[in-house]
Formats: sequence, C-alpha cells, structure tokens
Amino acid sequence: MFIAFEGIDGSGKSTISSLLRKYLEDRGWNVVLTHEPQDQSLRHPSHEDAMNGFLMFYKFMADRVSHMSSMEKSLGDGKVVISDRYLLSTLAYQGPLMESFFGDYQRTVQWMMDASRPVKLMPDVTFLMDASPAVTLGRIREKKKDAFEKEEYLTRVREYYLRCKWPNKVVIEATRNLEECFAVVTGTIDALMA
Ligand code: TYD
Repeated sequence: MFIAFEGIDGSGKSTISSLLRKYLEDRGWNVVLTHEPQDQSLRHPSHEDAMNGFLMFYKFMADRVSHMSSMEKSLGDGKVVISDRYLLSTLAYQGPLMESFFGDYQRTVQWMMDASRPVKLMPDVTFLMDASPAVTLGRIREKKKDAFEKEEYLTRVREYYLRCKWPNKVVIEATRNLEECFAVVTGTIDALMA
C-alpha cells in the first residue's frame, strides 16, 4: 500500500505520518517512511513568479521520477510506503504560480495533469491535512521555526489542495486535536487493509 500525506507546512503531516508508521509496524507491517522533495536543495523553492513556478514544476517532477523507482521497489517487496508529500504538492504549490500562463485554474490543472504523465505511481490513499495558513504559520512561529512562505500564497496553495480532483483524497480538519486526526487516518487505513 502506498499512502501519501499532504498539506501546508505546520499542518501536522509529518507528526501523523510518523505515528502511522509506528501504528503499522506494531501490526507487523514493514514500513518505509519517505518524503519529497528528495533533493535537499529543493526544500526552499522560489515561489516568486510564473516562470519560477514552471521551472520548479519540472524540478519537482524530476525529483519524483527518481524517487518513484525506490518506492516501487519497496512496494514490490511487500512494504507499506508512506510519503510525506507527493504529486499533489506540485499541483498545489506550483499551480497558483503558473496560472497566469494558462489563464485559469481549470486549464492550469489540466496542463499539470498532462505533464505529470511520467508519474505512473499513484497513492492508494492521500490524506490532506487541511488548516488555514493563519493557524499553520502560528504553529510554525510557536516552534520558532522559519516560516518562509507568505500567508497570501499559502491561501492559494490551500485552495488548490482542496479543489483538485484527486483519487482517494481524504481531507482531515487539521485544527482538530491530534488524536481525532489520527483516528480518521487509522480508521481509513484499517478499512482499506481489511
Ligand atoms: P517540506 O520538506 O515539507 O518542508 P520542511 O522544510 O518544512 O520540512 O517541503 C519543502 C517545501 O517544498 C515546502 O514549502 C513545499 C515545497 N514543495 C513544492 O513547492 N512542490 C512540491 O512538489 C513539493 C514536493 C514540495
């Protein structure tokens, strides 16, 4: 099984994915917890303009295509793969920047889906940890971490995340407490594995 976690920074996806790894390991599964981008140099992408959006789209795709082969190998060995971010991150983060090239949301998403065809591996389920940027930026600042993204841009990213038609997307209200969020995740996984 291939499970992806998505959401803006500070939404809790890394915490929940680690909890899920432990939950599945306790039940005897061999779990690989991975994340994107694999290339550390892509961790602080430029979100400045359409041209950068375009460039970053291809960089994240290249990163993903190389990541895909190791994930496919793990899945072939019968492991559960959990990825903290996957293709939906590219649609949500790079889409808003490229919109000025394509005119509107529909055309932008259509173009990105067409250009994503090399990514054959799709998650069995994608959990979208949804919270407003005001909440997530507050959490990041509380932890004294660097919030390098702006609220206005993250609001657009969130819109793309929510609006994108995506197979087996489970939206979790990330403002609820951790136990409640995690219960949604385990309930979904248990049902899928039954
Ligand atoms: P992440 O590693 O989750 O951030 P952190 O440094 O807090 O652990 O993600 C790095 C950044 O890259 C994040 O702002 C989201 C962005 N990103 C994209 O813009 N497009 C993508 O396709 C991916 C995977 C990430």
